[in-house]
Amino acid sequence: MVRIKLVRPMTEVKSFDEFSEAVKKPCACSHAKGSGSVLGYAALDDSGHLEPFRFDRRPVGPTDISFAVTHCGICHSDLHQIKNEWKNSIFPMVPGHEIVGICTEVGPQVTKFKPGDRVAVGCMVDSCGECEACQRGLEQYCSVGVQWTYNTTAPDGTINQGGYSTSLVVKESFALRFPDNLPLDAGAPLLCAGITTYSPLRHWGLDKPGKKVGVIGLGGLGHMAVKLAKAFGAEVTVFSTSPGKEHEALHEFGADHFIVSKDRAAMKKAHSTLDGIIDTVSANHPLADYLATLKLDGSLIMVPLALPAFAITAQRRSVAGSAIGGIQETQEMLDFCGEHNVTCMIEKVDVADVNKAMERLAANDVKYRFVLEIAKTLVA
Ligand SMILES: *[C@@H]1O[C@H](CO)[C@@H](O)[C@H](O)[C@H]1NC(C)=O
Ligand SMILES: *[C@@H]1O[C@H](CO)[C@@H](O)[C@H](O)[C@H]1NC(C)=O
Ligand SMILES: [Zn+2]
Ligand SMILES: [Zn+2]
Repeated sequence: MVRIKLVRPMTEVKSFDEFSEAVKKPCACSHAKGSGSVLGYAALDDSGHLEPFRFDRRPVGPTDISFAVTHCGICHSDLHQIKNEWKNSIFPMVPGHEIVGICTEVGPQVTKFKPGDRVAVGCMVDSCGECEACQRGLEQYCSVGVQWTYNTTAPDGTINQGGYSTSLVVKESFALRFPDNLPLDAGAPLLCAGITTYSPLRHWGLDKPGKKVGVIGLGGLGHMAVKLAKAFGAEVTVFSTSPGKEHEALHEFGADHFIVSKDRAAMKKAHSTLDGIIDTVSANHPLADYLATLKLDGSLIMVPLALPAFAITAQRRSVAGSAIGGIQETQEMLDFCGEHNVTCMIEKVDVADVNKAMERLAANDVKYRFVLEIAKTLVA
């Protein structure tokens, strides 16, 4: 049983009694491998299969908080890493870096959180704090080495494990406050998909009314780029290879234009019209046609980096890469989403169905992000 003192209600759960009732639902985890007080779903090898796994978190230190995970989004990088597609994955691996929950315990020096507060953790749990990147609040580019939320080793030698688990212990400085008005489930993917698209929109000045922003690909990342750019007041053009996504792009996410990228005439009409493009497609793809839609000095920013080697000189256009965002900026993004009611479109998944969700994700069959219902379906 997860024991928590619930001060603020969760969106779908009105009272502490209801929450307790929800988490009482037993899961079929008596056969979990490993031992410890935390229950998660782990990849034990590179087969891509996840199974119940018990382990321990470090004790809550003076500046740490502990929280009960209520939801965790499933990111494509979770899939790559459990299958060891990025090499040298540390197994057993509990993935998950779009984590939200309710604070259960705080260390004596913690000032930002108290039990009952909503908490979120994204892709990072620590960094050196001293290098130039860290000093500038760009912990994701820490030159000494970021401690990613999972597949990393903490200084005390313990392996960091992610959010497909009942609880997490994290330094308060790497924990985010999750807005009270946002649903925990549909808000979870903001922690990776949200910040990954928010940060480049801000950095490249595409966060202003009237800016003309293109978004390539309408998946988990792409639909967030559209929603955020619209919340900034931009005029948004979606490029997609699937004509079937037009209705959702325009009417669900509020895009202004939709172009099927194979439509030569439409592409030509968009020539030199955009201030910037957020490219969310991870597979290698030709960029020349998209670059032609940029104005003078326009930038195309690739968020999953799949950069082919070529130079762009005409019209001083730029191709750039961008990875998530720093802690302060992630907090700013969550607050912005709270203010503008920006959430993700999600499909909720029982933890027991995580392997089915992974298979569908591998086939790109998800609208638009899977979110694991941890608190309802995984009980330690
Ligand atoms: C996972 O951790 C191993 C061991 O530190 C490292 O070699 C590998 O690059 C990591 N994978 C990713 C995707 O960071
Ligand atoms: C916020 O968004 C949700 C989902 O899109 C919607 O149901 C709700 O009415 C919105 N709330 C406000 C205050 O706009
Ligand atoms: Zn991610
Ligand atoms: Zn650093």
